[in-house]
Amino acid sequence: MRSAGKTSLSPMSPERSLRLAVGALALLLCAATDNSWIQKVPQADRERVNPYAGNRDAIAGGAKVFADHCAKCHGSDALGRGKKPSLRTDVVQNATDGELFWILKNGYLSHGMPTWSSLPEPVRWEVIAYVKSLGINSPSASAKDPTPATSPGEHP
Ligand code: HEC
Repeated sequence: MRSAGKTSLSPMSPERSLRLAVGALALLLCAATDNSWIQKVPQADRERVNPYAGNRDAIAGGAKVFADHCAKCHGSDALGRGKKPSLRTDVVQNATDGELFWILKNGYLSHGMPTWSSLPEPVRWEVIAYVKSLGINSPSASAKDPTPATSPGEHP
């Protein structure tokens, strides 16, 4: 009868706390890699050259692809919608064409960005040429009024 009092009611087995610790670590790692897809791009991909960079026909074609596939999330002006980021930030505009090609190929599914590997490669390069043609448009940049510089010395 003595053994009846020896019930094992330990609140947390070592096994369970280990699993919790691993879970917490995984969460931490996720947070640390947030928004750093650019760092995942292999060097060889980074250096790929857009055969259509600056090509007007390709940019026009890319605009159509963008309207069909990208605008619903990133906005028809590419300035982003809600949680979907603007593509006219310095991050995107200063990314190499190869880096953008990489994210279109691989997507960033855990963050809601689908893969576009089903689009033929030339079409992906076209849409990149289009996005790059838009240039940086940050709210602070457009808020500034570019008043022409006057040279006071010229007026009597
Ligand atoms: C279903 C919605 C959706 C569609 C459609 C979509 N995207 Fe995205 N895209 C996202 C989300 C969400 C992110 C943010 C991922 C993150 O958190 O880094 C993103 C990120 C990006 C980025 C990286 C932005 C940055 O600042 O890191 C680029 C470039 C991009 N998308 C281009 C495109 C292009 C080009 C298309 C069309 C071929 C497209 N996306 C279609 C949702 C979408």
